[in-house]
Amino acid sequence: MSETPQSPPLIAYHARTKHRFEAFADGPGQLDWDAQPEAFRRYPGAPLLELPLAADRFERPYGQLAAAPAAPIAPGLDSLGALLELSFGISAWKSWGPSRWALRCNPSSGNLHPVEAYALSAGLPGVADGVHHYDPRDHLLEGRALRPADGSCWLAVGLSSAMWREAWKYGERAFRYCQLDIGHAVGALGYAAALLGWRVEPLAVPGDNLARLLGIDRADDFPPTRHAYTEAEEPEILLAIHAPGLAAPPAAWNDWLAAARWQGTPSQIDAAPGYRWPVVGQAATASRQGAAASPPPRFPERPALPKHPTPSGAAQLIRQRRSAQRFDPQCTLDKAAFYRMLDATLPRPQAPFAGQENAPAIHLLLFVLRVDGLPSGLYLLPRTPEAARTLPAVLGPGDGRFTGQCTVADSDPDCPAHLGLILLAPLELPEMQRLARALSCHQDIAATSAFSLGMLGDLSPVAGDGYAYRRLLREAGLVGQALYLEAEAAGVRGTGIGCFFDDPVHRAFGIADPRWQSVYHFTVGTPVSDSRIETAPPYPQRLPENP
Ligand SMILES: Cc1cc2nc3c(=O)[nH]c(=O)nc-3n(C[C@H](O)[C@H](O)[C@H](O)COP(=O)(O)O)c2cc1C
Repeated sequence: MSETPQSPPLIAYHARTKHRFEAFADGPGQLDWDAQPEAFRRYPGAPLLELPLAADRFERPYGQLAAAPAAPIAPGLDSLGALLELSFGISAWKSWGPSRWALRCNPSSGNLHPVEAYALSAGLPGVADGVHHYDPRDHLLEGRALRPADGSCWLAVGLSSAMWREAWKYGERAFRYCQLDIGHAVGALGYAAALLGWRVEPLAVPGDNLARLLGIDRADDFPPTRHAYTEAEEPEILLAIHAPGLAAPPAAWNDWLAAARWQGTPSQIDAAPGYRWPVVGQAATASRQGAAASPPPRFPERPALPKHPTPSGAAQLIRQRRSAQRFDPQCTLDKAAFYRMLDATLPRPQAPFAGQENAPAIHLLLFVLRVDGLPSGLYLLPRTPEAARTLPAVLGPGDGRFTGQCTVADSDPDCPAHLGLILLAPLELPEMQRLARALSCHQDIAATSAFSLGMLGDLSPVAGDGYAYRRLLREAGLVGQALYLEAEAAGVRGTGIGCFFDDPVHRAFGIADPRWQSVYHFTVGTPVSDSRIETAPPYPQRLPENP
């Protein structure tokens, strides 16, 4: 939607943080990498609980994730360790010359990792009741607020964003990236839970209550000093974990917390911030969840997702997931693998979409480049029956390119009919490459892949409900997480693309109605690895566990 003086704050935020051909959204420009905010937060003074690295004990094929494991897995220290490792833990250390950096099971824009995770639990064997901060670097829990057991047994995971980590590099657009990252994190948690036969459910907890629950509003620990905005964590989401033997978390959080003793002091994220981006904080305030609970999402009826044929284990795929930094433009993607990946992005009540807070609202604008047997061109994948009815009329004809829209399944018997994939306009490969590269901030990865895409969402609910902005961006992150893992399962690789030119994308697809906005891009192809970068194991300081 375009910005006017009367625009609701988040519509105005979205408009002012668009990248334009003429100018990028406001950001720092030059970066001093030595001044990067600290990527890991700790709470020195809090009691530590080392988590086992036991995920391999629960390994089973990726294709079986939708079904429960043969023997139910009860929550305990091992399974909690596996859950957190495979969602937020380190997957590898990388180095190139003097630089060394960690990669994690969840991806993050710029590898900046604003997401902080907290486990809240009662009655789990080997884990004290209370609120624990998860430290991914050492795979341990810091007991932030421990309390006496009350006989109940439940588990929840709370997420927050240290938004400064993103704002430091990306300036005003950072709030968007934080929400996309939260979507990826919820998706990562959903897949790790599915491996264990568990399920995540978002709980409607108003933002201020969540801040109290996670201890990130404690004035003693987060004093309102000059640099408070760099140290602050924004409350994001609380998810109940459903697992054998677990009850629902308590509704009376305040009573539960009243018996807890807070311990530890947050480590500093940035001692010397050079600038600030107030609109990031303003967007967070305007989009905090209020008291009203969102209606639970309803998923359209559609055939079950067929089992994936890969023999690879889910934990293995989760750990090997990486963002491709280059693709081999000589390689093409098998058509069946392409259809399968698209099918896996359709909303179904299973990982990762069980973690979704809203009715599905994201649809895919596809740049098909190198898929065997499919003409290169612009395609549309509506992800709901409603969008299948309405969206084709929203796109084009603009410059007249889309007059010959056709349903792919009508001419290709290999295309599952329920996909509803639409060819908008066939375009020659060189033209497609030019378009895809230019629209994704001139990044080659959008054009040398098999396909790339934009995620189209309806921004109009945001005008009356600020939290709808977070939900929409998080849903895009969930779709991205599905694509990351599906790409690995297909033997190729994906990369999230947060940098794209917003309105030029809309123009390319003939979208004139400003309520429809592309909010995230993604690309999938055959990766070329960089042999100069060395890889080391994620937890060299820990001895491997015996299965
Ligand atoms: C929301 C989001 C936006 C991203 N945008 C870009 C991008 O524009 N270009 C790019 O090359 N990589 C992009 N990435 C990939 C990240 O750089 C990558 O996830 C990060 O470096 C961590 O590496 P990993 O995914 O291999 O763990 C994005 C990732 C996310 C989650």
